[in-house]
Amino acid sequence: MRAYAAIILAAGMGTRMKSGLCKVLHEVAGRPMISYVIDALEPCRFQKIVVVVGHQADTVKKMLQRPGIEFALQEPQLGTGHAVMAAKDLLQDFAGEVLILCGDIPLIRTETLLEFVRLHEEKQGKITLMTALLEDPTGYGRIIRDTDRAVSRIAEERDANEHERSIQEINTGIYLVNAAILYRLLARVGQENDQHEYYLTDIVAEAARDSIPVDGMLLRNAGEASGINSRSELAQAAAVLWERRRLDLMDSGVTLLDPSTVYVDAEVRIGPDTVIHPCVTIKGQSEIGTDCIIESGVYLMDSRLGDRVKILQGSRLDRAIVDDDTSVGPMAHLRPEARIGKSARIGNFVEVKKSTVGDRSKASHLTYLGDSTIGRDVNIGCGTITCNYDGKHKHPTVIRDRCFVGSDVQFVAPVEIGEGSVIGAGSTITRDVPPGMLAVSRATQKVYPLRPLGSSRETTPKAKAEVEHEDTDRS
Ligand code: UD1
Ligand code: CA
Repeated sequence: MRAYAAIILAAGMGTRMKSGLCKVLHEVAGRPMISYVIDALEPCRFQKIVVVVGHQADTVKKMLQRPGIEFALQEPQLGTGHAVMAAKDLLQDFAGEVLILCGDIPLIRTETLLEFVRLHEEKQGKITLMTALLEDPTGYGRIIRDTDRAVSRIAEERDANEHERSIQEINTGIYLVNAAILYRLLARVGQENDQHEYYLTDIVAEAARDSIPVDGMLLRNAGEASGINSRSELAQAAAVLWERRRLDLMDSGVTLLDPSTVYVDAEVRIGPDTVIHPCVTIKGQSEIGTDCIIESGVYLMDSRLGDRVKILQGSRLDRAIVDDDTSVGPMAHLRPEARIGKSARIGNFVEVKKSTVGDRSKASHLTYLGDSTIGRDVNIGCGTITCNYDGKHKHPTVIRDRCFVGSDVQFVAPVEIGEGSVIGAGSTITRDVPPGMLAVSRATQKVYPLRPLGSSRETTPKAKAEVEHEDTDRS
């Protein structure tokens, strides 16, 4: 087998996207489109991978920092042929075959690239093109064959005549070319076209001139080489990639109750026997254990769930960690650095930010926990709030193991509650409470008789007795 290298063209802006972001960085199914191309290429184990960058070069480079990937800068961008020229120096000592492909074809698969290489090897080809037959070839370069069916050139749509435009065999933009031949032919390519660019496609006509045979491999699944040029093509490719993702998840043992409404990013990991209800989005580097239940309307970003975790309807988790057997929601909001222990419960309308909640602790209703450390076996009553922000700084609240916090308590941070203490309902806690104490802070209840306007009715003795009585409610 001959030696192989790859060049990925990714310097263009992609003006048809009408975006401030260069095309190859646009996300498709949760990842920049070019990373799918690299992923498809890596298992082919080529000697070299060169990415040609130009527009937003630094961002593209940063995104693709992986061992074995080299970058060539194309500045300014004068066409696809010019882009391949920019990689010439990096391939100076390379004497093999070069696979050229674009960074805007995220649907391409490794198997297809390997089959393409196999064909090129079998024929000991000099130039092999990957072509496809399209019902609607609009936008693509058309493959022009001469009378004996040999490929004689490629006509770009904007330079093609009416007859050429009716040809349905298109250039996928994926080529295998011997490196020496490639650069010899490219040196002769000019800018005589509608865009005044150096077209890589023109090497085909140059090859024909030198009687170098050009082979074609017809791609069976034409959609795989779809180049993305517009937002609507982006959406179509995303639909295909989401679907592939759902099938992979189901193959790995995850149940999706309504697959087409579930969006799981490429790098998310989900354990077997986890059940995902309709309309769920799981993003970034999230990890979900086995036997979990993720109910409808849940949004997870970069979050980690243990095993047998339940995330109930309408909850949002962002960079949160939830340990085994814990239940969260419905309508809970776990914000960055929320860490919930094992067998704990975060109930409805509870928001947790930068806080640790220990094993078996519960905050079941209407609560805000921010910058706090909650121990184990703690009960946080309904409506409890950590007042963590004084307008300038954030302050911590610490509630030690086995504390019982009644309903509607405010902790004015910084404040610490010792182990096993009880806080009476409705208290505003401004000072530390030592372990094993009961703390209550609330105004004395007063009760007055109602005297309707104009009424001369005397206050009954019983009502009188109840006025200004002390509040003896249980805490
Ligand atoms: C190109 C082909 C066309 C083919 C189609 C397949 C040419 C002239 N035409 O057209 O025959 O059917 O791809 O999708 O090659 N790029 C650079 N530097 C540049 C210009 C482009 O790196 O100066 C990169 C772009 O970032 C992009 C790729 O090359 O990833 C293709 O460029 P694009 O403008 O999309 O080419 P098409 O017009 O689609
Ligand atoms: Ca394109």
